[in-house]
Amino acid sequence: MAINIAIDGPAGAGKSTIAKAVAKELEFIYVDTGAMYRAMALYLIRKGISPKEQEKMEEACKNAEISIVYEKGAQQVILDGENVTEYLRQEEVGNMASVSSVNPKIREKLVELQRVLASKENVVMDGRDIGTCVLPHADIKIYLTASARTRALRRCKELEEKGIACVLEEIEADINDRDYRDMHRDISPLKQAEDAVLLDSSNMNITEVKDEIIRLYKEAI
Ligand code: C5P
Repeated sequence: MAINIAIDGPAGAGKSTIAKAVAKELEFIYVDTGAMYRAMALYLIRKGISPKEQEKMEEACKNAEISIVYEKGAQQVILDGENVTEYLRQEEVGNMASVSSVNPKIREKLVELQRVLASKENVVMDGRDIGTCVLPHADIKIYLTASARTRALRRCKELEEKGIACVLEEIEADINDRDYRDMHRDISPLKQAEDAVLLDSSNMNITEVKDEIIRLYKEAI
């Protein structure tokens, strides 16, 4: 049977960096579920649907064809036949994803895709509801977090390295808004699964977090 490692946590906690590093070391596939919600958000933006139009979102999501392929080990998201991976990290797309991901029809569709992937392959899957909803029987569950200020500082550094100017307070406010929405939505809110291990990365570097997860994996398997 496929081995599943679930990593959940708030935006900017370092989930994708850590999940990628763990997947590489264990030779598992890394599944970034946030990218799927972002692809759906991009689809809605392109259709001119605003964050307030939940009914239109529900209707539109039926027609969006989202699939995942791997190119040299890196996840690529295909939206209606187009590789949209490079557009997904924009702030606008992330903010729309945080709103459109509360929609039950959108969640239903993407959770199905995630479960199919995890049933076929050994995966490290990251998101908000992997341990609580998508893969409740995952072999290992991690809840990875860090303070909002730490996460905002990391995001600013990332943006500045790309030559994009940013205001720390604005990024931190966005992070707090996103946390609030993710934690307070009706369906699959972000929360630590009862059997998840809590890791706070505020004072840990990437290698330390990765090594801890590998240690937990070896202990469990
Ligand atoms: O992790 P990332 O920032 O790429 O996710 C974008 C948005 O998608 C998040 O703000 C969250 O609202 C949503 N999401 C979700 N469930 C997941 C992964 C992401 O609701 N499993």
